[in-house]
Amino acid sequence: MAHSILVLNGPNLNLLGTREPEVYGTDTLDDIVAELTTFAEANGAELRAVQSNNEGELIDALHDARNWAAGVVFNPGAFTHTSIALRDAIASIELPVVETHLSNVHAREEFRHHSYVSGVCLGVVAGFGKHSYRVALEGLLSHLG
Ligand code: DQA
Repeated sequence: MAHSILVLNGPNLNLLGTREPEVYGTDTLDDIVAELTTFAEANGAELRAVQSNNEGELIDALHDARNWAAGVVFNPGAFTHTSIALRDAIASIELPVVETHLSNVHAREEFRHHSYVSGVCLGVVAGFGKHSYRVALEGLLSHLG
């Protein structure tokens, strides 16, 4: 049976393509999701993509994932570094979540070095640009078996 996976993106990631392209690349979020969907289909998975700039909506999407998803690829954007509420949501849903970042947050400003969510995630992928999402999905699918 195909695994259903939530691909969840947080604040400002709707602006990918034009947002600081020297850091995040020139692909739009739609481009990234389209490429990831092709990869997912070839690997027996189906994706549902959600993006929100709102912390509460991201929490609601994580809660809702309990009803249909086998796991989550999650780029929480700047909420990575601020949100205990997102950490608690991930810990509450008992689904494997892979923290995913386009940039290598550890090679950037110090305030990006700490993540509230890493400790409750299955794994962390950062620094491979749009490919981070594929690596994260690959790791998640091999975990799910
Ligand atoms: C990001 C890294 C975060 O520090 C930043 O706030 C983002 C994007 C990334 O994908 O590299 O919005 O999550």
